[in-house]
Amino acid sequence: MKKNFLVWLVAIMAGLQPVFSQSASITEPGVAVFYPAEFDSIRTLPSLVVIKELPKRDSLPQDWSVRPNFVKIEGKNAVRFNLDEEIDLYGTGEVIGDLRRNGTDVTLWNTDNYEYAKFEGKQLYQSHPWILGVRPDGSSFGILADNSWRQEIVLEDDAEIISDGPSFRVIVIEKESPQEVMKSLADLTGTMALPPLWALGYQQSRYSYYPDTNVKELADEFRDRKIPADVIWMDIDYMEGFRVFTFDDEGFPDPAGLNDYLHNKDFKSVYMIDPGVKQDSSYFVYQQGSKGNHWVLDSLGNEYNGEVWPGQVAFPDYTRPETQKWWASLYKDFMNLGIDGVWNDMNEPAVFDGPGGSMPDDNIHRGGGDLPEDIHLRYHNVYGLLMVRSSREGIMEANPEKRPFVLSRANFLGGQRYAATWTGDNSATWDNLKMSIPMSLNLSLSGQPFNGPDIGGFTESPSADLFGNWIALGAYYPFSRNHTSKDTEDQEPWAFGEKIENVSRTAINRRYRLMPYLYTLFHEASVTGMPIMRPVFFADITDEDLRDEQQAFLLGEDLLIVPAWAEDAEMPEGDWKTVQFEKEDDGYQATVKLRDGAIVPMGPVIQSTEDYSTKQLTLLVNPDKNGNASGTLYDDAGEGFGYKNGDYSIHKFTASKTSKNKLKIKVEQTEGERQVNRQYRIGLVKDGKIIYSDWSSAKKLELKFN
Ligand code: GLC
Repeated sequence: MKKNFLVWLVAIMAGLQPVFSQSASITEPGVAVFYPAEFDSIRTLPSLVVIKELPKRDSLPQDWSVRPNFVKIEGKNAVRFNLDEEIDLYGTGEVIGDLRRNGTDVTLWNTDNYEYAKFEGKQLYQSHPWILGVRPDGSSFGILADNSWRQEIVLEDDAEIISDGPSFRVIVIEKESPQEVMKSLADLTGTMALPPLWALGYQQSRYSYYPDTNVKELADEFRDRKIPADVIWMDIDYMEGFRVFTFDDEGFPDPAGLNDYLHNKDFKSVYMIDPGVKQDSSYFVYQQGSKGNHWVLDSLGNEYNGEVWPGQVAFPDYTRPETQKWWASLYKDFMNLGIDGVWNDMNEPAVFDGPGGSMPDDNIHRGGGDLPEDIHLRYHNVYGLLMVRSSREGIMEANPEKRPFVLSRANFLGGQRYAATWTGDNSATWDNLKMSIPMSLNLSLSGQPFNGPDIGGFTESPSADLFGNWIALGAYYPFSRNHTSKDTEDQEPWAFGEKIENVSRTAINRRYRLMPYLYTLFHEASVTGMPIMRPVFFADITDEDLRDEQQAFLLGEDLLIVPAWAEDAEMPEGDWKTVQFEKEDDGYQATVKLRDGAIVPMGPVIQSTEDYSTKQLTLLVNPDKNGNASGTLYDDAGEGFGYKNGDYSIHKFTASKTSKNKLKIKVEQTEGERQVNRQYRIGLVKDGKIIYSDWSSAKKLELKFN
């Protein structure tokens, strides 16, 4: 009580005004914000989720249907919504189990949850206080509980969000479709920045490739075997005794040389950086951190220490602006070694000997700037978000001409602004393989488009068959990385024999062939917030049979991916046609279906995105019943920020069947100044084959067929 009062007093003195009265208003069309009577702005704002002001524009219309009741549940501040049972619920962040979330509950408390085994798997690495509701007619709403405290989402008879913290404001989005809700969420919380093209490539990781000669051999092996790949990942063993920003003298004596080697082979490197800094008075990061007073404090105001990989560590207090700056500054020399991307892990934060696997709730984060000092219970869930915000800034400062790439295990709603994510320590089981689809979909429906699980599973070793199935699916995850733990068998695509090596190559080849389409989707996600991986029901929001389909999924609007193992997947109506790639009768490849009315640009097989070019593109076409189709291509340099100054292009393709056996496509550049001498050919997708036109650089393409 006393502590709370102090926080208030300090905050009020700092000019932060508490808001009291209960109110509800429209802040923009289709977006309402609700404040409870006892709203505690000081202990919940400023929002780390919502990046916009929420001015009162209008009063709430009488017929606004999704209204929160601010209630107390077992003494806790909560909000309850009475929802019709016919509404399908989604989102709620990183969750295991079914796509449809009705009847589930989840605890929002970022947790290092090995094999998803603790807390019945209902509390994972990141938190999203967000529910998406879809009504039978397709009209949809979103509920955002704008606070970072530990809370629970219970979707039983009613939808309830129950917080361990003070009362909080709630934002409700009301739109005609789930797609519009996703865009509105992105408008409130910001979008993923456009990543460098290489981050869309296939990536190879393990805990840990060691020493550097092993990494080089791995790169050679990919190139020799002609399995396309873009990135090799360095897990913690590259460090000196797990001290972040250092290198092991024996295994990684020359990191710049290693990175050069990788670059010469058209690979990028990503290195891990954890938040915990080894408590070692002779170690420069610990020295700097102590001198700068950068550590999270215990409830008595002393440096807090807990155990992670290096032994006892101190934790940077990223709520402090000085600490954010200091942490960012550490990346300068590090990135200058030719490192391309950063992997921030253990940032829930995970503490092996701490309560519940993290730090005590009453630890102190000192804040500063616009964040007030408060206890860990408030800042725990945003510890990862604040860390990656700072990492990203440091990487930008080190290489202002390059697009940063950060992968984070912990994060919070809105954190797509700073980092991509993977779903933590899964296992090599069929169950985990299948579950990865609804998991990635719900993360996507919670504002995080750039996500994927460890392909092949992190713990345990997959059988050849399981791996083959996983890589054949994994080629379509937005984030496509194979990763495994320390004591597991080799998990590279060739580790399971020739058959699975071929399966892997075929699947990864397809990813690279679809790169023009995939990159266009990433661009769309970065502009509008539309997910890259989408549930099948997005294809027809009024078809209720699709609402719980979780074996198949959509990649963008135009491709439907059906894994080889899917049984009786619900298909949307329409004349979706199977795209026949080369070499596909291996029993593992997913079926890729093209929507009727769609045009998808496809490139040649390349070994990495270094070879990416849009100079020759096949336009896969599936005309609708009226003979029409359309599609888009986004193109830019794949790196840097030239695209912000016009060095990009958007092309629109419009197809029409002018007679029974004649198809024409019009090519138009609708945006940007980028000029590429490009040749296209039409690839008319028919059942069982693709009929190609000749290559042409004309603005009007034509295909005659029988
Ligand atoms: C954590 C990560 C895992 C990583 C390991 C060692 O378990 O989730 O991906 O390999 O730490 O750094």
